[in-house]
Amino acid sequence: LQPRIVLGIETSCDDTGAAVMDEAGRILGESLHSQKEVHLKTGGIIPPVAQRLHKENIHRVIQEALDMSRISPSELSAIATTIKPGLALSLGVGLEYTLKLLKQYNKPFIPIHHMEAHALTVRMIHPVQFPFLVLLVSGGHCLIAVANGISDFLLLGQSLDEAPGDILDKVARRLTLIEHPECTTMSGGQAIEHLAKQGDRMKFNLKSPMGQHFDCNFSFAGLRNQVTQIITKKEKEEDIEKGQILSCVNDIAAAVQHTVASHIAKRTHRAILFCKMNGLLPQNNAALVVSGGVASNQYIRRTLQIVTDATGMALLCPPPKLCTDNGVMIAWNGIEKLREGIGILHNPKGICYEPKAAF
Ligand code: KG4
Ligand code: ZN
Repeated sequence: LQPRIVLGIETSCDDTGAAVMDEAGRILGESLHSQKEVHLKTGGIIPPVAQRLHKENIHRVIQEALDMSRISPSELSAIATTIKPGLALSLGVGLEYTLKLLKQYNKPFIPIHHMEAHALTVRMIHPVQFPFLVLLVSGGHCLIAVANGISDFLLLGQSLDEAPGDILDKVARRLTLIEHPECTTMSGGQAIEHLAKQGDRMKFNLKSPMGQHFDCNFSFAGLRNQVTQIITKKEKEEDIEKGQILSCVNDIAAAVQHTVASHIAKRTHRAILFCKMNGLLPQNNAALVVSGGVASNQYIRRTLQIVTDATGMALLCPPPKLCTDNGVMIAWNGIEKLREGIGILHNPKGICYEPKAAF
């Protein structure tokens, strides 16, 4: 019997990704085109620009993944594509291309929820059993949930305003880190992590958000305002123009990173205690999985490790390559759904189909 094979397609934000995977979880082919450089120059993602770049690259990216796998589209068992959440214009490119392939090769469709895919990527490399706690921290999302099954999530908390990656990107932009000789090719989050290593977080006293909120939600907008005020004040003190690099940039980076890390850790701690009180996680070997672009941050990981050590949980983080957006996580989610026989559409009529929403 031939193993079943899925093509995964991701275009929800600024990465055009495709991967071909078999039932055993082997990556047969993959390709990724990142628009990061273009968006870094414009200081943020402009949706029509992202859409155009997806359009320019999607055919090549999918072809590269298929070529590498030596699988022809007719041999695929299904095509899995991100349908939400994301930028509508970006999602549309992947979905339009998917529909064309589905029609041409008469294949079933597996609609994928981007956050569910992030949440379950860890199972590619670690046999973590349900239920487990999952924290997703990226440029567009911030949530903590109990993963009870492939398509069964209990949302415990989410950001009430902006996502941590977004904050780090905005602070990096405000500090014009793109002009910093050590950071020219880095995302905002990477630049902050890099500079923070050379900084002293105690030089600035930033207030950790939501101390009086007895739930598991997150908030980062207030922190961004605090930092913006500090930067404006320092710019005046140092008498520099907007756009020049402040001398205390490393200390600001260290303080922001620390406050983001400690806020995430505190809210996660609350979620763990809530789960323990309500018997939502196994008594032994309970796991906290952390994924999304911000999960590549080593300082944030170490801070979370303190929380998991103190609560007897295991901390699992997929390698950075799997934490950020890619086609592999979508193909893997497709494989898991195919194995369980859930969420497979045999005659998709259009691109507006909404699967059972977990988040
Ligand atoms: O998961 P991702 O590739 O895209 C989505 O947002 O879905 O995450 C990208 C985000 C960006 O905001 C970026 O600044 C942040 O992840 N990021 C980091 C690091 N690497 C990427 N944040 C903190 N530390 C890092 N090392
Ligand atoms: Zn993502």
